[in-house]
Amino acid sequence: MRPALYLDADAAVEDRVDDLLSRMTPQEKVGQMLMLDARGDLDEAILRRHAGSILHTSPELMGQAHHLVGQTRLCIPLLVADDGIHGHSFWPGATIFGTQISMACSWDRELITAAARVTATEMAATGMHWTFSPVLCITRDLRWGRVNETFGEDPYLISELGAAMIRGYQGSGLDDPDSVLACAKHFAGYSETQGGRDASEADLSRRKLRSWFLPPFHTAAQAGVGTFMLGYQSMDGVPITANTWLINDVLKGEWSYDGLLVTDWDNVGRMVWEQQVCADITEAATVAIKAGNDVIMTTPTFYEGALAALDEGRVTEADLDAAVRRILRLKFRLGLFENPRHPDLARQALIANPEHSAANLQTARRSLVLLTNDGTLPLDGGLGAGPDGRARSDAARTIAVIGPNAEDPQAMLGDWAGNSGQVSWLPEGQPRAAIQTVLDGFRQIAPVGWQVTHAVGAEIGTLIPDPAGTHFPDGQPRPDIFVAAQPDPDLIAEAVAAAQAADLAVVVVGDSIALTGEGRSTATLELQGGQLALLDAVAATGTPMVVVLVQSKPSTLPPSAMAASAIIAAFNPGMRGGQAIAELVLGLIEPTGRLPLSFARHVGQQPVYYNQVRGQHGDRYADLTQRPLFAFGHGLSYSEVTYDQLRLEADHLGPDGTLRATVALRNLGQRPALETVQAYVSDQVTSASWADQELKGFTQVAVPPGETVIATIAVDASACSIVTAAGERVVEPGSFELRVGPSSDPDRQLRAGFQIS
Ligand code: NOJ
Repeated sequence: MRPALYLDADAAVEDRVDDLLSRMTPQEKVGQMLMLDARGDLDEAILRRHAGSILHTSPELMGQAHHLVGQTRLCIPLLVADDGIHGHSFWPGATIFGTQISMACSWDRELITAAARVTATEMAATGMHWTFSPVLCITRDLRWGRVNETFGEDPYLISELGAAMIRGYQGSGLDDPDSVLACAKHFAGYSETQGGRDASEADLSRRKLRSWFLPPFHTAAQAGVGTFMLGYQSMDGVPITANTWLINDVLKGEWSYDGLLVTDWDNVGRMVWEQQVCADITEAATVAIKAGNDVIMTTPTFYEGALAALDEGRVTEADLDAAVRRILRLKFRLGLFENPRHPDLARQALIANPEHSAANLQTARRSLVLLTNDGTLPLDGGLGAGPDGRARSDAARTIAVIGPNAEDPQAMLGDWAGNSGQVSWLPEGQPRAAIQTVLDGFRQIAPVGWQVTHAVGAEIGTLIPDPAGTHFPDGQPRPDIFVAAQPDPDLIAEAVAAAQAADLAVVVVGDSIALTGEGRSTATLELQGGQLALLDAVAATGTPMVVVLVQSKPSTLPPSAMAASAIIAAFNPGMRGGQAIAELVLGLIEPTGRLPLSFARHVGQQPVYYNQVRGQHGDRYADLTQRPLFAFGHGLSYSEVTYDQLRLEADHLGPDGTLRATVALRNLGQRPALETVQAYVSDQVTSASWADQELKGFTQVAVPPGETVIATIAVDASACSIVTAAGERVVEPGSFELRVGPSSDPDRQLRAGFQIS
């Protein structure tokens, strides 16, 4: 007997899809749309519900899942997905990079492509086909628990870094077995929270969406991202999974996107039990199918609901076919029927190999942002590394490494890593030995003969069970409740003693996983627990203090921290972060990171993002400035670099023209600088109110000590657009201003006017 056409690798993909579809029962079609949690009953998922894809598959369960597929009638290979968001998060010992916000501080596309490439190869070797990354949400309210997963607050920066990450994951394309599918998420508007509350109704007009929320997704679609994930939230009363305007008119229509759509976790069920816009699962399944969703994540009862909808004539088999066709097409294109890309033990040798670890260290180095520095750093002038790789020194020193995040390995990793709450098989988190804490870093590279001491100094808080129960109605674990620790006089006394006996106190404060992530937004931005008391006490010793912020998102800072000798932002910087931080303090590397989001002075300044829309009475609160604590784009080098002589090649542009400018950068110091030259455009008069300035370009330029380097900037006229009141993105002719500087701070920018005709 001739084998079925769909099994013929030489047949055309569309013919194979047609053939397979013609053999499938309605039950198998509905099942093909299901993505189920591999930690549940796998027999039930694969044999009874015919699930076409799985997620959160432990190394042990992977083999079992594929074995079960072998017992099914048509043996349709599974798509295996997971959240490899900053590394292969849940693979024991994988390379875990800093969080997305940490990587964003590098403003470096190539670096991010390289990091994503490492993640892709590690995931692919373990049998993963698909990562739910990158997050393209724009940070708006810092109270939101998922700020750490974003590339920050600016649509242009997010677009650039998102596309870079997608390139890294997807490599040379679908047939590249070392690649994984990327996923642009969470489409769209998820981060426009109410008061920072996770997944609350996003109060967004279509114009506002088109202005700032959609551009990173549009760029991702153009960059060929394989999949899109539809966010949890509803917008203007409509859950995204039911939003035919967003899914069909914009994504599939205007953008001609033909990749796969996956819902977020139980979006379909949530329409019944959470948003209460559907009476039952049959109605919810109908809505989801009709709106054009393909893969339904973790709503097992979608199976029954969709079949009932079919029986009742609310959906047709052709409706199912449209989604199933897209899923099968992707599976054929990936070549899964010929090579289901099972885990490959031989290739797993590359996981966390020295090359990957080196890429991780380099990413961590580039992610550190020096926020303030009174000249104390680099310590002792930073004499560089000796032949043993340790810092050199001409005087014996003692460094006290203090604080709750100084020696907390999981704080280096943050959310979506090991034991951050999503999976159960890594209860202790990623292996301790694979992670360098800040204390490890100093012990490892401080000059021989130096003393590195340690005191915890404070606790952040503890968790208590939520009296509302351990799980949400959809079966997701309900996070425990965070209770801030009280300042502990004994811990503080130890820290004070350590600081008094030291030449430098490095105080590592921040947050913890209990204050980070889905469903874990915070009401305050303050450093929690005993940390404020600790900072005050160490500051009072008079020992020079460097504050290192190992955290998921910007906190506000007390006066004692602001008066410190230096402050370093180190958003959960990954497994090699501890070494990178020590290298920075000791001057083995230069600070090169720049903030991809603004720091607030006070939680009440929310939202504090830089590209606010013009038009309000005044520019301050009665009791506080509106200016951020640290501006978007800010970051110091160890040398001062001045900006001078902003010159435009021409100051009149046609609509297809490109504005070219040069600026002179002068390094006044003794150390090399890598300057991120930022170009903002301000449209002087707009037909609808608009942001006063928007980032339109950036370039990274090495400026050697004592030298002047001319940086060039190019901005296309077509990028100088606004979205009109009617919702159309256009370039409105007239006067513009180019603002060039080291950050979004208007006081630090050079300005030049130009016209677009
Ligand atoms: C819910 C999260 O919102 C999403 O980002 C993630 O990819 C899925 N869960 C799967 O873990």
